[in-house]
Amino acid sequence: MSSFTFVTAGESHGPALTVVITGIPAGLALDRGRINRELTRRQHGYGRGGRMKIESDEAEITAGVRGGETLGSPISITIRNRDFENWRDSMDPWTIDEAERQKRRVHSPRPGHVDLAGGMKYDRHDLRDILERASARETASRVVAGAMARELLRAFGIELRSAVVSVGSAGDPDLSPTWEELAAVDDESPLRAARPADEQAMIAAVDVAREAGETLGGAIVIAAHGVPVGLGSYVQWSEKLDGRIGQAILSIHAVKAVAIGDGVAATSRNGSDVHDAIYFDEDRGYHRNSNRAGGLEGGVTNGQDLVVRAYMKPISTLRRGLPSVDVELREPHRSQWERSDVTAVPACGVVCEAMLAIVLCDAMRAKFGGDSMTEMTRNYQAYMEQIRRW
Ligand SMILES: Cc1cc2nc3c(=O)[nH]c(=O)nc-3n(C[C@H](O)[C@H](O)[C@H](O)COP(=O)(O)O)c2cc1C
Repeated sequence: MSSFTFVTAGESHGPALTVVITGIPAGLALDRGRINRELTRRQHGYGRGGRMKIESDEAEITAGVRGGETLGSPISITIRNRDFENWRDSMDPWTIDEAERQKRRVHSPRPGHVDLAGGMKYDRHDLRDILERASARETASRVVAGAMARELLRAFGIELRSAVVSVGSAGDPDLSPTWEELAAVDDESPLRAARPADEQAMIAAVDVAREAGETLGGAIVIAAHGVPVGLGSYVQWSEKLDGRIGQAILSIHAVKAVAIGDGVAATSRNGSDVHDAIYFDEDRGYHRNSNRAGGLEGGVTNGQDLVVRAYMKPISTLRRGLPSVDVELREPHRSQWERSDVTAVPACGVVCEAMLAIVLCDAMRAKFGGDSMTEMTRNYQAYMEQIRRW
Protein backbone atom coordinates (compact mmCIF):
# COMPACT_ATOMS: atom_id res chain seq x y z
CA MET A 1 0.00 0.00 0.00
CA SER A 2 1.61 3.28 -1.00
CA SER A 3 0.04 5.57 1.55
CA PHE A 4 1.13 5.98 5.15
CA THR A 5 -1.83 5.62 7.52
CA PHE A 6 -2.10 5.28 11.26
CA VAL A 7 -4.87 4.83 13.77
CA THR A 8 -4.55 5.21 17.54
CA ALA A 9 -6.50 3.81 20.50
CA GLY A 10 -6.18 4.27 24.23
CA GLU A 11 -7.38 6.24 27.23
CA SER A 12 -5.12 8.56 29.19
CA HIS A 13 -5.25 6.43 32.38
CA GLY A 14 -6.16 3.13 30.72
CA PRO A 15 -3.76 0.19 30.42
CA ALA A 16 -1.97 1.33 27.24
CA LEU A 17 -1.94 3.33 24.03
CA THR A 18 -2.02 1.34 20.80
CA VAL A 19 -0.97 2.49 17.33
CA VAL A 20 -1.41 0.61 14.04
CA ILE A 21 0.58 1.90 11.06
CA THR A 22 0.31 0.84 7.43
CA GLY A 23 2.26 1.81 4.35
CA ILE A 24 5.91 1.47 5.38
CA PRO A 25 7.70 -0.60 2.73
CA ALA A 26 9.61 -3.77 3.56
CA GLY A 27 13.30 -3.57 4.35
CA LEU A 28 13.49 -0.32 6.31
CA ALA A 29 16.06 -0.71 9.09
CA LEU A 30 14.72 0.84 12.32
CA ASP A 31 16.66 2.31 15.21
CA ARG A 32 14.95 1.52 18.52
CA GLY A 33 16.92 4.16 20.44
CA ARG A 34 15.91 6.88 17.98
CA ILE A 35 12.22 5.91 18.17
CA ASN A 36 12.16 5.94 21.98
CA ARG A 37 14.12 9.19 22.07
CA GLU A 38 11.19 10.90 20.32
CA LEU A 39 8.87 9.73 23.10
CA THR A 40 11.27 11.11 25.70
CA ARG A 41 11.47 14.45 23.88
CA ARG A 42 7.66 14.76 24.09
CA GLN A 43 7.75 14.29 27.85
CA HIS A 44 10.24 17.06 28.41
CA GLY A 45 9.70 20.77 29.03
CA TYR A 46 9.50 23.38 31.75
CA GLY A 47 5.92 23.82 32.96
CA ARG A 48 4.79 20.19 32.58
CA GLY A 49 2.62 18.61 35.31
CA GLY A 50 3.42 15.66 37.62
CA ARG A 51 2.25 13.03 35.13
CA MET A 52 5.50 13.24 33.17
CA LYS A 53 7.43 12.17 36.27
CA ILE A 54 5.37 8.96 36.42
CA GLU A 55 5.44 8.04 32.74
CA SER A 56 8.61 7.06 30.95
CA ASP A 57 7.28 6.09 27.56
CA GLU A 58 8.67 3.21 25.57
CA ALA A 59 7.49 1.77 22.26
CA GLU A 60 6.78 -1.95 22.32
CA ILE A 61 6.49 -3.25 18.74
CA THR A 62 4.20 -6.27 18.47
CA ALA A 63 3.83 -6.71 14.69
CA GLY A 64 5.31 -5.81 11.33
CA VAL A 65 9.00 -5.78 12.30
CA ARG A 66 11.50 -8.63 12.41
CA GLY A 67 15.07 -8.31 13.62
CA GLY A 68 14.85 -4.51 13.42
CA GLU A 69 13.60 -4.43 9.80
CA THR A 70 10.10 -3.70 8.54
CA LEU A 71 8.26 -6.49 6.72
CA GLY A 72 5.84 -4.36 4.70
CA SER A 73 2.94 -5.59 6.85
CA PRO A 74 0.98 -3.41 9.33
CA ILE A 75 3.10 -2.34 12.28
CA SER A 76 1.50 -2.36 15.68
CA ILE A 77 2.96 -0.54 18.66
CA THR A 78 1.97 -0.43 22.33
CA ILE A 79 2.95 2.26 24.82
CA ARG A 80 2.08 1.21 28.38
CA ASN A 81 0.53 3.81 30.69
CA ARG A 82 2.58 3.33 33.84
CA ASP A 83 0.07 5.51 35.73
CA PHE A 84 -2.60 2.82 35.11
CA GLU A 85 -1.44 1.05 38.27
CA ASN A 86 -2.70 4.08 40.25
CA TRP A 87 -5.99 4.09 38.33
CA ARG A 88 -6.75 0.39 37.91
CA ASP A 89 -9.70 0.47 40.35
CA SER A 90 -11.48 3.15 38.33
CA MET A 91 -10.16 2.49 34.80
CA ASP A 92 -9.90 -1.29 34.44
CA PRO A 93 -11.71 -2.41 31.25
CA TRP A 94 -13.75 -5.06 33.13
CA THR A 95 -13.97 -4.48 36.87
CA ILE A 96 -14.08 -1.12 38.58
CA ASP A 97 -14.72 -0.13 42.18
CA GLU A 98 -17.80 2.09 42.58
CA ALA A 99 -16.25 4.18 45.38
CA GLU A 100 -13.15 4.77 43.21
CA ARG A 101 -15.30 5.70 40.22
CA GLN A 102 -17.10 8.29 42.36
CA LYS A 103 -13.78 9.67 43.61
CA ARG A 104 -12.55 10.18 40.04
CA ARG A 105 -15.89 11.37 38.64
CA VAL A 106 -15.81 14.59 36.61
CA HIS A 107 -19.03 16.59 36.85
CA SER A 108 -17.92 20.17 36.20
CA PRO A 109 -16.71 20.59 32.58
CA ARG A 110 -13.61 22.66 31.81
CA PRO A 111 -14.18 25.55 29.40
CA GLY A 112 -11.77 25.03 26.48
CA HIS A 113 -12.00 21.23 26.70
CA VAL A 114 -14.51 18.97 24.99
CA ASP A 115 -15.89 17.74 28.36
CA LEU A 116 -19.35 19.30 27.95
CA ALA A 117 -19.92 18.82 24.20
CA GLY A 118 -18.45 15.31 24.40
CA GLY A 119 -20.69 14.36 27.34
CA MET A 120 -23.75 15.50 25.40
CA LYS A 121 -22.65 13.89 22.12
CA TYR A 122 -21.75 10.46 23.55
CA ASP A 123 -24.38 10.60 26.32
CA ARG A 124 -21.87 10.05 29.13
CA HIS A 125 -22.69 11.80 32.41
CA ASP A 126 -19.38 11.03 34.09
CA LEU A 127 -17.26 13.39 31.99
CA ARG A 128 -14.17 11.31 32.72
CA ASP A 129 -15.43 9.07 29.90
CA ILE A 130 -14.77 12.02 27.55
CA LEU A 131 -11.56 13.50 28.85
CA GLU A 132 -9.77 10.16 29.08
CA ARG A 133 -9.69 9.90 25.28
CA ALA A 134 -9.70 13.62 24.47
CA SER A 135 -6.59 14.17 26.60
CA ALA A 136 -3.29 15.03 24.95
CA ARG A 137 -1.87 11.79 26.29
CA GLU A 138 -2.95 10.59 22.82
CA THR A 139 -0.12 12.64 21.34
CA ALA A 140 2.37 9.98 22.54
CA SER A 141 0.76 7.69 19.93
CA ARG A 142 1.25 10.32 17.24
CA VAL A 143 4.87 10.81 18.25
CA VAL A 144 5.59 7.11 17.88
CA ALA A 145 3.82 7.01 14.49
CA GLY A 146 5.83 10.10 13.57
CA ALA A 147 9.03 8.41 14.73
CA MET A 148 8.35 5.56 12.29
CA ALA A 149 7.63 8.08 9.51
CA ARG A 150 10.91 9.81 10.37
CA GLU A 151 12.81 6.55 10.03
CA LEU A 152 11.58 6.32 6.43
CA LEU A 153 12.22 10.01 5.68
CA ARG A 154 15.72 9.69 7.10
CA ALA A 155 16.51 7.01 4.53
CA PHE A 156 15.90 9.71 1.89
CA GLY A 157 17.93 12.40 3.68
CA ILE A 158 14.95 14.26 5.19
CA GLU A 159 15.27 15.54 8.78
CA LEU A 160 12.85 17.52 10.95
CA ARG A 161 13.35 19.93 13.84
CA SER A 162 11.30 22.45 15.81
CA ALA A 163 11.81 25.24 18.31
CA VAL A 164 9.65 27.37 20.57
CA VAL A 165 9.59 31.01 19.47
CA SER A 166 7.22 32.34 22.14
CA VAL A 167 5.56 31.36 25.42
CA GLY A 168 2.86 33.74 26.62
CA SER A 169 4.25 37.20 25.93
CA ALA A 170 7.92 36.08 26.18
CA GLY A 171 9.87 35.65 22.92
CA ASP A 172 8.67 36.61 19.45
CA PRO A 173 5.93 34.64 17.63
CA ASP A 174 7.15 36.06 14.26
CA LEU A 175 10.77 34.95 14.72
CA SER A 176 12.05 33.01 11.67
CA PRO A 177 14.92 30.77 12.79
CA THR A 178 17.13 29.23 10.10
CA TRP A 179 17.53 25.46 9.74
CA GLU A 180 20.95 25.74 11.38
CA GLU A 181 19.41 27.57 14.36
CA LEU A 182 16.69 24.92 14.67
CA ALA A 183 19.24 22.12 14.44
CA ALA A 184 21.26 23.76 17.23
CA VAL A 185 18.33 23.82 19.70
CA ASP A 186 19.23 21.92 22.84
CA ASP A 187 16.52 19.32 23.56
CA GLU A 188 17.58 19.39 27.21
CA SER A 189 16.99 23.13 27.53
CA PRO A 190 13.92 23.96 29.65
CA LEU A 191 11.78 25.39 26.83
CA ARG A 192 13.59 24.39 23.62
CA ALA A 193 13.66 28.07 22.66
CA ALA A 194 14.82 29.02 19.16
CA ARG A 195 16.81 31.88 20.71
CA PRO A 196 18.61 30.69 23.85
CA ALA A 197 18.54 34.29 25.12
CA ASP A 198 14.71 33.99 25.40
CA GLU A 199 14.79 31.02 27.77
CA GLN A 200 15.03 33.04 30.99
CA ALA A 201 12.09 35.27 30.08
CA MET A 202 10.05 32.18 29.12
CA ILE A 203 10.90 30.43 32.40
CA ALA A 204 9.91 33.57 34.32
CA ALA A 205 6.59 33.73 32.42
CA VAL A 206 5.83 30.09 33.32
CA ASP A 207 6.72 30.72 36.99
CA VAL A 208 4.42 33.73 37.17
CA ALA A 209 1.60 31.75 35.54
CA ARG A 210 2.08 28.80 37.89
CA GLU A 211 2.00 31.09 40.95
CA ALA A 212 -1.23 32.65 39.72
CA GLY A 213 -2.89 29.27 38.96
CA GLU A 214 -2.79 30.33 35.30
CA THR A 215 -1.68 28.60 32.08
CA LEU A 216 0.14 29.73 28.91
CA GLY A 217 0.26 28.97 25.21
CA GLY A 218 2.82 29.98 22.62
CA ALA A 219 4.16 29.60 19.10
CA ILE A 220 6.44 27.01 17.51
CA VAL A 221 8.39 26.86 14.25
CA ILE A 222 8.76 23.41 12.68
CA ALA A 223 10.94 22.68 9.65
CA ALA A 224 11.83 19.77 7.41
CA HIS A 225 15.20 19.79 5.64
CA GLY A 226 16.20 17.82 2.53
CA VAL A 227 12.67 17.70 1.07
CA PRO A 228 12.69 16.99 -2.68
CA VAL A 229 10.92 19.29 -5.12
CA GLY A 230 7.51 18.01 -6.24
CA LEU A 231 5.76 16.48 -3.20
CA GLY A 232 2.03 17.21 -3.14
CA SER A 233 0.13 18.59 -6.12
CA TYR A 234 -1.87 21.59 -7.31
CA VAL A 235 -4.22 19.53 -9.48
CA GLN A 236 -6.76 18.64 -6.80
CA TRP A 237 -7.63 20.45 -3.53
CA SER A 238 -7.11 17.30 -1.47
CA GLU A 239 -3.57 16.84 -2.81
CA LYS A 240 -2.30 20.31 -1.92
CA LEU A 241 0.34 19.74 0.72
CA ASP A 242 -0.28 23.03 2.55
CA GLY A 243 -3.90 21.96 3.12
CA ARG A 244 -2.82 18.55 4.37
CA ILE A 245 -0.23 20.07 6.69
CA GLY A 246 -2.84 22.50 8.01
CA GLN A 247 -5.20 19.66 8.85
CA ALA A 248 -2.49 17.58 10.50
CA ILE A 249 -1.15 20.41 12.65
CA LEU A 250 -4.58 21.78 13.59
CA SER A 251 -5.64 18.31 14.70
CA ILE A 252 -3.10 18.55 17.54
CA HIS A 253 -4.66 19.31 20.91
CA ALA A 254 -4.75 23.07 21.66
CA VAL A 255 -3.24 24.15 18.33
CA LYS A 256 -5.59 26.84 17.07
CA ALA A 257 -3.74 28.34 14.10
CA VAL A 258 -1.11 27.31 11.61
CA ALA A 259 0.93 29.20 9.04
CA ILE A 260 3.16 28.07 6.19
CA GLY A 261 6.42 30.03 6.09
CA ASP A 262 5.85 33.70 6.89
CA GLY A 263 2.12 33.20 6.21
CA VAL A 264 0.78 35.52 8.93
CA ALA A 265 3.52 38.17 8.87
CA ALA A 266 3.32 38.34 5.04
CA THR A 267 -0.23 39.72 5.12
CA SER A 268 1.05 43.19 6.05
CA ARG A 269 4.00 43.32 3.59
CA ASN A 270 4.31 44.23 -0.10
CA GLY A 271 4.43 41.38 -2.59
CA SER A 272 8.04 42.15 -3.51
CA ASP A 273 8.99 41.67 0.15
CA VAL A 274 7.21 38.34 0.35
CA HIS A 275 7.86 36.22 -2.75
CA ASP A 276 11.16 34.42 -3.09
CA ALA A 277 12.97 35.50 -6.29
CA ILE A 278 14.23 32.70 -8.59
CA TYR A 279 17.88 32.45 -9.75
CA PHE A 280 19.88 29.97 -11.79
CA ASP A 281 23.56 29.15 -12.04
CA GLU A 282 25.42 26.04 -13.22
CA ASP A 283 26.68 25.13 -9.72
CA ARG A 284 23.46 25.46 -7.76
CA GLY A 285 20.87 25.07 -10.53
CA TYR A 286 17.59 26.82 -9.77
CA HIS A 287 17.68 28.42 -6.34
CA ARG A 288 16.33 31.18 -4.09
CA ASN A 289 18.08 33.46 -1.63
CA SER A 290 15.10 33.59 0.76
CA ASN A 291 12.40 31.17 1.91
CA ARG A 292 9.46 33.23 3.04
CA ALA A 293 7.06 30.82 1.29
CA GLY A 294 8.19 28.06 3.64
CA GLY A 295 9.10 25.68 0.83
CA LEU A 296 5.60 25.41 -0.66
CA GLU A 297 4.12 27.10 -3.73
CA GLY A 298 0.75 25.96 -5.07
CA GLY A 299 0.66 23.11 -2.57
CA VAL A 300 3.86 21.59 -4.04
CA THR A 301 7.26 21.44 -2.34
CA ASN A 302 9.80 23.60 -4.18
CA GLY A 303 12.95 22.00 -2.79
CA GLN A 304 13.50 24.58 -0.05
CA ASP A 305 13.08 23.74 3.64
CA LEU A 306 9.45 23.17 4.54
CA VAL A 307 8.65 25.69 7.30
CA VAL A 308 5.47 25.61 9.38
CA ARG A 309 4.39 27.75 12.33
CA ALA A 310 1.93 26.45 14.94
CA TYR A 311 0.07 28.53 17.51
CA MET A 312 -0.99 26.83 20.74
CA LYS A 313 -3.65 28.23 23.05
CA PRO A 314 -3.13 28.24 26.84
CA ILE A 315 -3.90 24.92 28.59
CA SER A 316 -7.60 24.79 29.59
CA THR A 317 -7.17 23.11 33.00
CA LEU A 318 -6.50 25.99 35.38
CA ARG A 319 -5.58 25.26 38.99
CA ARG A 320 -7.93 28.02 40.10
CA GLY A 321 -10.71 26.73 37.82
CA LEU A 322 -13.03 28.72 35.56
CA PRO A 323 -16.74 29.49 35.83
CA SER A 324 -18.70 26.37 34.87
CA VAL A 325 -21.71 24.30 35.90
CA ASP A 326 -22.18 21.07 37.85
CA VAL A 327 -23.88 18.94 35.18
CA GLU A 328 -25.70 16.84 37.77
CA LEU A 329 -27.00 19.67 39.97
CA ARG A 330 -27.16 22.20 37.11
CA GLU A 331 -25.75 24.78 39.48
CA PRO A 332 -22.70 27.03 39.13
CA HIS A 333 -19.49 25.17 39.97
CA ARG A 334 -15.92 26.11 39.07
CA SER A 335 -14.32 23.72 36.59
CA GLN A 336 -12.48 20.83 38.23
CA TRP A 337 -8.71 20.71 38.34
CA GLU A 338 -6.61 17.62 38.07
CA ARG A 339 -2.86 17.33 37.65
CA SER A 340 -2.09 19.36 34.55
CA ASP A 341 0.57 21.27 32.67
CA VAL A 342 1.06 25.03 33.11
CA THR A 343 2.33 25.06 29.56
CA ALA A 344 3.19 22.31 27.06
CA VAL A 345 4.53 24.36 24.15
CA PRO A 346 7.91 22.53 23.92
CA ALA A 347 6.15 19.14 23.91
CA CYS A 348 3.67 20.41 21.36
CA GLY A 349 6.64 21.20 19.09
CA VAL A 350 7.69 17.55 19.20
CA VAL A 351 4.12 16.50 18.33
CA CYS A 352 4.11 19.01 15.44
CA GLU A 353 7.34 17.47 14.11
CA ALA A 354 5.67 14.05 14.25
CA MET A 355 2.56 15.20 12.38
CA LEU A 356 4.64 16.99 9.74
CA ALA A 357 6.74 13.83 9.33
CA ILE A 358 3.56 11.79 8.85
CA VAL A 359 2.24 14.11 6.10
CA LEU A 360 5.63 14.13 4.38
CA CYS A 361 6.02 10.37 4.66
CA ASP A 362 2.60 9.90 3.09
CA ALA A 363 3.53 12.32 0.27
CA MET A 364 6.80 10.44 -0.31
CA ARG A 365 4.89 7.15 -0.47
CA ALA A 366 2.39 8.65 -2.93
CA LYS A 367 5.20 9.90 -5.18
CA PHE A 368 7.68 7.04 -5.04
CA GLY A 369 5.51 4.01 -4.12
CA GLY A 370 7.20 0.62 -3.98
CA ASP A 371 6.63 -2.42 -1.76
CA SER A 372 10.25 -2.58 -0.67
CA MET A 373 12.90 -0.02 0.19
CA THR A 374 14.86 -1.25 -2.84
CA GLU A 375 11.98 -0.36 -5.14
CA MET A 376 11.14 2.94 -3.47
CA THR A 377 14.81 4.02 -3.45
CA ARG A 378 15.19 3.17 -7.14
CA ASN A 379 12.13 5.29 -7.99
CA TYR A 380 13.40 8.14 -5.83
CA GLN A 381 16.87 8.11 -7.36
CA ALA A 382 15.54 8.04 -10.93
CA TYR A 383 13.31 11.03 -10.18
CA MET A 384 16.13 12.97 -8.50
CA GLU A 385 18.27 12.35 -11.57
CA GLN A 386 15.47 13.72 -13.77
CA ILE A 387 15.27 16.82 -11.54
CA ARG A 388 19.05 17.36 -11.73
CA ARG A 389 18.89 17.37 -15.53
CA TRP A 390 15.82 19.61 -15.74
C1 LIG B 1 1.64 18.06 24.48
C2 LIG B 1 0.34 18.59 25.00
C3 LIG B 1 0.07 18.53 26.36
C4 LIG B 1 -1.13 19.03 26.87
N1 LIG B 1 -1.34 18.97 28.23
C5 LIG B 1 -2.51 19.42 28.73
C6 LIG B 1 -2.76 19.39 30.13
O1 LIG B 1 -1.91 18.95 30.93
N2 LIG B 1 -3.94 19.85 30.58
C7 LIG B 1 -4.89 20.33 29.75
O2 LIG B 1 -5.95 20.73 30.21
N3 LIG B 1 -4.70 20.40 28.41
C8 LIG B 1 -3.54 19.95 27.88
N4 LIG B 1 -3.32 20.02 26.53
C9 LIG B 1 -4.35 20.61 25.64
C10 LIG B 1 -5.68 19.86 25.61
O3 LIG B 1 -5.50 18.50 25.37
C11 LIG B 1 -6.64 20.49 24.59
O4 LIG B 1 -6.72 21.86 24.78
C12 LIG B 1 -8.02 19.87 24.72
O5 LIG B 1 -7.99 18.50 24.39
C13 LIG B 1 -9.12 20.55 23.89
O6 LIG B 1 -8.83 20.47 22.53
P1 LIG B 1 -8.58 21.78 21.64
O7 LIG B 1 -7.81 22.75 22.50
O8 LIG B 1 -7.79 21.31 20.47
O9 LIG B 1 -9.92 22.33 21.27
C14 LIG B 1 -2.11 19.57 26.00
C15 LIG B 1 -1.83 19.62 24.62
C16 LIG B 1 -0.62 19.15 24.12
C17 LIG B 1 -0.34 19.22 22.64
